[in-house]
Amino acid sequence: MSKTQDFACGFHDNESITNEKLIYPAASRNKESILQVLKRFLITDTENDDEENPLFVEIASGSGQHVAHFAPHFPNFKFQPTEVDSALLGSISYYAKHCPTKNILPPLHLDICNSLSQYGFKEESIDYIYNANMIHITPFECTIRLFENAGQYLKRDAFMITYGPYAKDGRLSPDSNIRFDATLRDIDPSYGVRDINDLTKLGEKNNLSLIDTIEMPSNNKTLIWKKN
Ligand SMILES: C[S@@+](CC[C@H](N)C(=O)[O-])C[C@H]1O[C@@H](n2cnc3c(N)ncnc32)[C@H](O)[C@@H]1O
Repeated sequence: MSKTQDFACGFHDNESITNEKLIYPAASRNKESILQVLKRFLITDTENDDEENPLFVEIASGSGQHVAHFAPHFPNFKFQPTEVDSALLGSISYYAKHCPTKNILPPLHLDICNSLSQYGFKEESIDYIYNANMIHITPFECTIRLFENAGQYLKRDAFMITYGPYAKDGRLSPDSNIRFDATLRDIDPSYGVRDINDLTKLGEKNNLSLIDTIEMPSNNKTLIWKKN
């Protein structure tokens, strides 16, 4: 069973999802272009066979579509979806159970504003942290905590990958992103599209360097952060 929700993410109807999958039209559109970026940055050729499978943790999985699309392309990785909204866990589980490569772990009910130690993660134990479309739809405090957690729980030289709309040098474009930002701030003044310069400062505080900015379809960007 599947259920399509038009204005995805964070604005769903709070009905718990069981034994069916949600389809966010935005995630359906962007998952393939994000996968192409991941194929450039995820390191798949581990020389040491005894090494554990790389751990890819997604923060704010939403419907669960992104990990479901990525996981079969990285069969030696373990994908850990997480989500703060418990109503979405059933949809994420549905995708995880039906993944042909069986490398998606059951979702964790996780609020990124808490320390990842509360969910059993050890310091410097995560190979990749991935977060799409959350930074602008949450108070800035969530972004601060995302960066602090990444700085503490990513392994050395590991990557955090963030995706969404961003401003740069105080400028946001095109007009559709300016209107989107205004809509978000009307919904909640603590929301809003963030400036890459502010994120870079947060990165510096948490040993994370912005090593690449990739332009994506629909005026979004993927930012690649490396733990020093
Ligand atoms: C716009 S949706 C993005 C979902 C998915 N990543 C995607 O791109 O389709 C934003 C998600 O952030 C989640 N979220 C909001 N606050 C959060 C928090 N404090 N910790 C973890 N996730 C959070 C929401 O529940 C929602 O699922």
